[in-house]
Amino acid sequence: MSTTVSQINSARPQMTAEIMVRTGLDEEKLTELVHCFYGKVRADSALGPIFAERISDWGPHLERMVAFWSSVALMTGRYHGAPVPAHVGLPVDWDHFDRWLTLFRETAAETCPPEGAAHVIERAERIARSLHMAVEDAKPRTIPSLL
Ligand code: HEM
Repeated sequence: MSTTVSQINSARPQMTAEIMVRTGLDEEKLTELVHCFYGKVRADSALGPIFAERISDWGPHLERMVAFWSSVALMTGRYHGAPVPAHVGLPVDWDHFDRWLTLFRETAAETCPPEGAAHVIERAERIARSLHMAVEDAKPRTIPSLL
């Protein structure tokens, strides 16, 4: 079934339609990507426990993450949240972000057409780098004594 611009749930339907054509992505594929990805994250020995301690009801988290990827990948403006404070203070370093990206790349390749996978991976890499910087900046530092 084809989708017309007027049926697209987006603050910028024309732009969203163009991205959908160029990348082969749509809300259905992003939903599959997000659900498969967090299935892997929850089963992962390094990342799983960090999420398990903080998320008891996965339904709302998955919905929020689909809205986030809809905003980031399709420019729909569906996500209204603040990712940085959600990550500052987590017990993570670059190895955790690297593992997150490995699972994300793998899942994107499994659930999206090649152009769509490249589109979301490029954005995930950029956001992971900036979240990592925010997390590192907020870590308490011990200033070496000169005495
Ligand atoms: C070390 C890797 C990561 C870990 C351990 C992690 C962990 C978490 C946790 C535990 C939450 C839930 C926070 C809460 O509800 O209290 C969360 C939320 C979220 N994460 Fe991550 N995350 C990671 C990387 C990323 C990356 C790379 C992205 C984006 C590409 C991302 C995007 C988000 C978003 C959008 C939310 C929802 C924030 C909100 O609106 O409340 N995360 N993350």
